[in-house]
Amino acid sequence: MNEFTFDMLFDKYKPMGRREEIHQLVNLVEWFSPHVVLELGVCQGGTLGFWEHLLPVDGLLVGADRLNVVQWDWRSSPKNVDYVQCDLDDPLSYVGIAEALGNEFVDFLYIDADHYYDGVKGHFELYAPLVRKGGIIAFHDIRDNKGSGYGVGKFFNELKERYGWLEILVPGEDRGPGADGIGVIFQ
Ligand SMILES: C[S@@+](CC[C@H](N)C(=O)[O-])C[C@H]1O[C@@H](n2cnc3c(N)ncnc32)[C@H](O)[C@@H]1O
Repeated sequence: MNEFTFDMLFDKYKPMGRREEIHQLVNLVEWFSPHVVLELGVCQGGTLGFWEHLLPVDGLLVGADRLNVVQWDWRSSPKNVDYVQCDLDDPLSYVGIAEALGNEFVDFLYIDADHYYDGVKGHFELYAPLVRKGGIIAFHDIRDNKGSGYGVGKFFNELKERYGWLEILVPGEDRGPGADGIGVIFQ
């Protein structure tokens, strides 16, 4: 995605993350051309807006979060966008998300919900089976800061032993717990 379009969308949707890291992830996802995308942890819909932009007209985008605070009108999207308000820790949420996906396997899963080790591991174990073989899964906030108690990076390091992977880590100021960094695995 060119700088102009990216900057325009970044300022519009305000995703949570370092601009350069999000840009590299967006480029990877654009290159991958997913047809079905699932995002766990949507909040105000910052990254969801990018996936909506990248989706083909007949694609499917499902977002899930316990909150209902998305700041753009996903219902008016010309693409097929759905939102599941749920607690991802509740196994019943899986049913709602699977229903929203229909019979489709996910091409790209973005995990940006619970940042603690047990939470992110639980979400991965529950939802990664929805991703097709050859699909990609990205985790936000793999740069666990000392003292944050976060465990996305620890969990991602374990996955690196089992999957092909890449890390998007752009140096920059410490932005607090999590402090960004994106890990990607290839199913
Ligand atoms: C960092 S924000 C997501 C930011 C978004 N991906 C973006 O870049 O704009 C994390 C979100 O995960 C949600 N979340 C965390 N744990 C959750 C859980 N167990 N079930 C549902 N939502 C959860 C929070 O409500 C919050 O909105």
